[in-house]
Amino acid sequence: MPDVTALALVAALVGDPVQGQAIASSRSTGLCVLCHAMPGVPAVHSGNIGPDLAGVGARYPRALLRERLLMPERFNPQTVMPAPLRSDGLQRVAAARAGQGVLTPQQTADVLAWLETLQ
Ligand code: HEC
Repeated sequence: MPDVTALALVAALVGDPVQGQAIASSRSTGLCVLCHAMPGVPAVHSGNIGPDLAGVGARYPRALLRERLLMPERFNPQTVMPAPLRSDGLQRVAAARAGQGVLTPQQTADVLAWLETLQ
């Protein structure tokens, strides 16, 4: 789905921060923990390719945080961070996942709600 559609869609949803933390720290769902240290996960179990997410809710106002999550290459055109709702341009996707992003819009709203609690 186009990024602007994704932004509008997620902005209209109410996220659950408890679900969001579970998604972000899961190695099989959110994948965030593969690249980011984050509160609630021991440092030895998280990656350090991206910045530590501790305090990220205080670093950015809500709308900017949403853009950082949904359009990472707007801030770094060479970013390795996958846009969680994007489904085009991916390679070697399993047939069962074709046409899907890493997360659903509701899961993305949940993750965002959790990021906002990281003050
Ligand atoms: C493949 C590695 C990778 C994955 C997976 C990943 N990120 Fe990132 N993320 C990065 C990198 C690297 C940056 C730093 C900006 C840049 O250079 O792209 C970043 C930046 C961010 C930022 C901005 C942080 C700041 O302080 O500026 C947020 C918020 C963020 N990621 C959240 C997430 C969430 C939530 C997920 C899971 C849905 C996720 N990321 C998955 C690599 C990743």
